[in-house]
Amino acid sequence: MWSTLVLTAFLSSAVTARPSSHVHQQRNNNGANILSQGSQILNSYDFVVVGGGTAGLALASRLSENSSTTVLVLEAGQSGNAVANQIDEPANTYYNSLLNTDYDWAYKTSAQSSMNNRQLSWPRGKVLGGSSAVNGMYLVRPNQVEIDAWASLASSDSGSSSNSPWAWNSFYSAMKKAETFDAPSDDIASEAGIEFNQASYGDSGPIHWGYPGFTFPLLSSWTPSLSSLGVPLNSDPVSGNNTGSFIANSAIRKSDWTRSYSRSGYIDGITGSRSNLDILTGATVTGIVWDNSSSTSTTPSSNSNDGLKATGVQYAFSSAGQKFTVSVNKEVILSAGAVGSAQVLMVSGVGPQAVLQGAGVDVKVALEGVGARLQDHLVASLVYSTSETTAGDIHASNSAESKTAEFMSFINSATAYVPLSALFSAEDAASVISSAQSAMDSNVDKYKSAGPKGDGTSQLDDTVVEGYKQIYKTITDTFYTGGSGQVEVLIALTQPGSIILQVALQHPLSMGRMYITSPSTFDSPVLDPAYLENSADMDIYRAGVKFLRRLAGTAPLSQYIKDQTSPTFSSDSPSDSDIDSFLISSSSTEFHPTGSCALLPLSLGGVVSPSDLRVYGTRNVRVVDSSVYPMELSTHLGAPTYGVAEVAVGLIREEYEPSSESGGAGSDNASAGGSGGSGSGGEGDSSGAVGMRGLGWSGVHVVLGMIGWVLFM
Ligand SMILES: *[C@@H]1O[C@H](CO)[C@@H](O)[C@H](O)[C@H]1NC(C)=O
Ligand SMILES: *[C@@H]1O[C@H](CO)[C@@H](O)[C@H](O)[C@H]1NC(C)=O
Ligand SMILES: *[C@@H]1O[C@H](CO)[C@@H](O)[C@H](O)[C@H]1NC(C)=O
Ligand SMILES: *[C@@H]1O[C@H](CO)[C@@H](O)[C@H](O)[C@H]1NC(C)=O
Repeated sequence: MWSTLVLTAFLSSAVTARPSSHVHQQRNNNGANILSQGSQILNSYDFVVVGGGTAGLALASRLSENSSTTVLVLEAGQSGNAVANQIDEPANTYYNSLLNTDYDWAYKTSAQSSMNNRQLSWPRGKVLGGSSAVNGMYLVRPNQVEIDAWASLASSDSGSSSNSPWAWNSFYSAMKKAETFDAPSDDIASEAGIEFNQASYGDSGPIHWGYPGFTFPLLSSWTPSLSSLGVPLNSDPVSGNNTGSFIANSAIRKSDWTRSYSRSGYIDGITGSRSNLDILTGATVTGIVWDNSSSTSTTPSSNSNDGLKATGVQYAFSSAGQKFTVSVNKEVILSAGAVGSAQVLMVSGVGPQAVLQGAGVDVKVALEGVGARLQDHLVASLVYSTSETTAGDIHASNSAESKTAEFMSFINSATAYVPLSALFSAEDAASVISSAQSAMDSNVDKYKSAGPKGDGTSQLDDTVVEGYKQIYKTITDTFYTGGSGQVEVLIALTQPGSIILQVALQHPLSMGRMYITSPSTFDSPVLDPAYLENSADMDIYRAGVKFLRRLAGTAPLSQYIKDQTSPTFSSDSPSDSDIDSFLISSSSTEFHPTGSCALLPLSLGGVVSPSDLRVYGTRNVRVVDSSVYPMELSTHLGAPTYGVAEVAVGLIREEYEPSSESGGAGSDNASAGGSGGSGSGGEGDSSGAVGMRGLGWSGVHVVLGMIGWVLFM
């Protein structure tokens, strides 16, 4: 009886779905010039943006609103026009993904010593739009407590953080400038149990914060089950407190059920002429060209008047190909993402001395914090069988319904941010916190002596170590205790016959590093997020798995869930070491790398200055992307990264256009996403965050390995 009811509700949503023609609008390129040959660009531009990803395209679009400002974006990937459907149709993020194709940088981590020396896959979008073109489209905001803690670390050598653009109020308004809220239909909202507060969103920015046009009634069992476990429904998770359970927004434009990402919103959405904005695809930046006479000291200073001056950017179309130089009149802006921006700095002579010398690069600025704080979120999946029809079943059926635009907009989005109080008894929570606190000094020593390459051949600089100490204290004393989520919990319905529950660790104390071993940006840097090196990380992550198992048994969700099919633990109540082995052997990235160009004071080993995002020791190079968070935040990184770009636009305008509005983002004229372009496209490289959407590629890989499914490939 119960299943009949559910089936009826399910059919009613299916019936309302209209077939789509599958013909997407042509990309609207009449604004910016998307070019593929170096001969098509000018000799010089006011701003050269390195990386046409999440932040880079947002920034380029905003800066070029002033028609007297010339802007060039150099993107290593292609335009994406050739794979428009794979980008535009949201559910293709699982069923026809661009990960592990030419549109993915397809990095791997170094052998992770606390994970059986596994090298984990690290996808990053290599196409216009960057990771926003290939990710799982989750839009979630960090917490006020996290952003304010960052602002306070950022201003720790300059007094109060209240006027900082990084404090919650101004950062929140910058995030809102990027967005337009698309409300769900009443049917979808009630079927999936979606609640929201429209006033907490932006209403006229380029990126659409929507919901899928198709859903499953079983999702309405999500928040009641979590509530029973002490994680209540949060009906307004985007205004500064995301703790609780909710159906998250997705980057979907309701007018045509397409992915809303930095290219579709900020570039294809440009109305009118934008002849002052050129975007060159297929162009890998090989380094920054400096005026070597502009600075004689390699010691970084926070005074922008005595730094190195960039005069241009060098790029190439292939590793063996000729190098070309484009000149900059004003600034170089690095928006190449958590991997790319630090790599370009290092090959250009800005980074830890020991690293640069080892890679054969002349030291221009001995900036020890570059690459020094690489972190990521790890995620693990428990797979359950179900007799419910899932999105994966519908897709596999190849039915007419499976081809509707509404169905193809269904992506996973039910989530919860779970605080320690719901993971542990009060006593156990207190003990996890106090043992993490008392282990601080030994963890700080371990980090210091591992050094910039993690191999102990040289020690980390004291400023970088002091930064880690402050971050460590912030996590244990503020994030652990303040009610913010320490794990994210998710549900995925995109695999046939299965319901997948996932858990992702949000505030790792383990802190890694990335570094170059060659002067070429065509070689991957070494990426070492130091996963699970800190035992408190494992304690919390393991508690997250136990929480998932309780959730699977909690009504009303439990009605839909049958046997756990993966992993197969040896007993019904697996021991801690069984769970740890599972986590070590099967965890994958949640696609949220950050920390490689931390926005912090120099005294805390920062890379970019909190006052203007300028790289210490340089006069006219900024970093604007997901690498500037000094530590992981309990969020998917896409939404805040648009905020970073909008803050940067305000700071840059203040400098060059003193008459324009100050503080926040650009004018309201930007590139209103509207109904203009359909989005997708490109090529590029870059940055931003690849969100986790149920099973990402590496998640699929893990499942395949464990249960032998040939799926999604
Ligand atoms: C600046 O110095 C670097 C080596 O440190 C050199 O490769 C480069 O050609 C110099 N740039 C100019 C414009 O002379
Ligand atoms: C955020 O919400 C949770 C759940 O309602 C609550 O326990 C917590 O105290 C809140 N945090 C802050 C900083 O208000
Ligand atoms: C456009 O930029 C120019 C040069 O930076 C500046 O002088 C002018 O004030 C700007 N225009 C507006 C409308 O801000
Ligand atoms: C934005 O553009 C509209 C029309 O395209 C114009 O009316 C308005 O004045 C512009 N606003 C700003 C702040 O430049």
